[in-house]
Amino acid sequence: MRWIILLLVPVVSGQEPAQVARGRKVFFESEAAGTRCGNCHAIEKKGTPAGPDLGRLAMLNPRAIKMAVLSTATQYVVSAKLKTGATFPAMKGAEEGAEVQLFDLSNNPPELKKVPKADVEYQPNTTWKHPPESTRLTAPQLADVIAFLRFASTGDKKTIRPEDVE
Ligand code: HEC
Repeated sequence: MRWIILLLVPVVSGQEPAQVARGRKVFFESEAAGTRCGNCHAIEKKGTPAGPDLGRLAMLNPRAIKMAVLSTATQYVVSAKLKTGATFPAMKGAEEGAEVQLFDLSNNPPELKKVPKADVEYQPNTTWKHPPESTRLTAPQLADVIAFLRFASTGDKKTIRPEDVE
């Protein structure tokens, strides 16, 4: 039966614009870790859910999405200081009972740590910046990533032109 499924896959994926497939490739397979968005963001049930869910942004206009990708200001990252003295830039994940999940952003991909809530103090982030490698994405690559984000979160198949993000 398995071969039937294998035969159907190209038919289904054939409905997806080529630009979406290119964007997905940049998102999950970029050579530079800083532009491999999936190292830190999850979408289509893949990737690491350390950074914010990008689906929420998908309906903004392409230029606004570009600004969000390239922004160096942070609003969610905090500096986590553990009782042991270890300090690292972190994104807070789910809380489970007396524990909190922290994505340690000093690693790429970020490392998930579960620590007792009582053992951690938070301070404003002063060190971590969104990977500056993102600025090296070309306009066509950025347009592809945005087309992928839109398709993955809303099914929108509209082409994003490189001119729209220049
Ligand atoms: C090393 C981890 C990492 C990588 C790689 C990364 N991001 Fe992020 N990203 C984050 C974190 C963490 C934040 C939250 C920053 C904050 O505001 O505190 C973020 C924020 C964002 C935001 C703003 C979201 C919002 O809700 O404000 C966008 C858009 C974004 N990333 C897109 C991308 C794209 C596209 C790529 C690939 C080109 C990428 N990121 C690569 C970790 C990463």
